[in-house]
Amino acid sequence: MTLQHDLHNMSEPLVLTEARGPITVVSVNRPDKLNALNAETVAQLGRVFTDIDADDSIRGVILTGRGEKAFVAGADIAELAQMTPRSGVEVSRAGQGVFRRIERFRCPVIAAVNGFALGGGLELAMACHIRIASENAKLGLPEVKLGIIPGYGGTVRLPRLVGRGRALELMLSGAMIDAQEAHRIGLVNRVVPQAELMNVAETLLKEIIANGPVAIELAIEAVDHGYHATTEDALQLEANLFGLLASTADMREGMQAFLEKRKANFTGQ
Ligand code: COA
Repeated sequence: MTLQHDLHNMSEPLVLTEARGPITVVSVNRPDKLNALNAETVAQLGRVFTDIDADDSIRGVILTGRGEKAFVAGADIAELAQMTPRSGVEVSRAGQGVFRRIERFRCPVIAAVNGFALGGGLELAMACHIRIASENAKLGLPEVKLGIIPGYGGTVRLPRLVGRGRALELMLSGAMIDAQEAHRIGLVNRVVPQAELMNVAETLLKEIIANGPVAIELAIEAVDHGYHATTEDALQLEANLFGLLASTADMREGMQAFLEKRKANFTGQ
């Protein structure tokens, strides 16, 4: 092992994970740079989600940024400044790949937006299934101010979340909006005081994962596929997944528990 490798291993990870029972909290950990995403942070984020995916005991993820100021203040501008046409495509594809895996993740991923969510930070939050923002959060896609456009899925996901007109206004002006405005336009699901953010996210996630695990996974899949498919294809997939759930012990348990007026004990089978 080289000295450089040793030093690299000794330095603090750029993405932290904390297990809270069946929930894992994933935190981007560059608070001195407002958690800006350099290439290594994006790569570590990808590896963390690969590891979580492989661990069946993990049933939900909260994604946040370390510190009280920022969720993620964007892609790392110092790194982007070195971009060439070729590396620009590669950087964009690498980030898109990681974010797309989060969007399609087998279990729910809630973004706890604890401050600035700008550029790549907002794009990361938009790839999550649900967004909860703290009152101090500021959101926007300021890329045009730097002479670029969003490259981690922002041009695709923002119009789908808030509609084309609002998305273009945000993207072309590069303006930041506050949490209340983000809530008003449907960009975030809820706004809560910062001190309560993690508790609210955890409570919601616990409520979600108390439901049938296979049903949760297939609901995410149905919505994801359905969003990009024709109505007919989406309805067919919904019907197929609906039928597939009839093969699960969880369906029998869920319905039995209702009929017996007790709480269901799902096993994920
Ligand atoms: N890339 C690289 N570094 C970033 C960054 C980014 N996207 N966002 C913040 N930082 C760094 C700053 O350079 C500064 O580093 P330094 O202390 O070594 O100088 C540190 O994080 C703190 O940021 P600072 O700008 O001093 O904080 P602020 O409270 O004055 O302003 C923001 C906060 C978010 C308004 C401002 O940092 C900003 O505009 N960031 C860039 C947002 C952006 O354009 N993102 C899209 C990128 S595509």
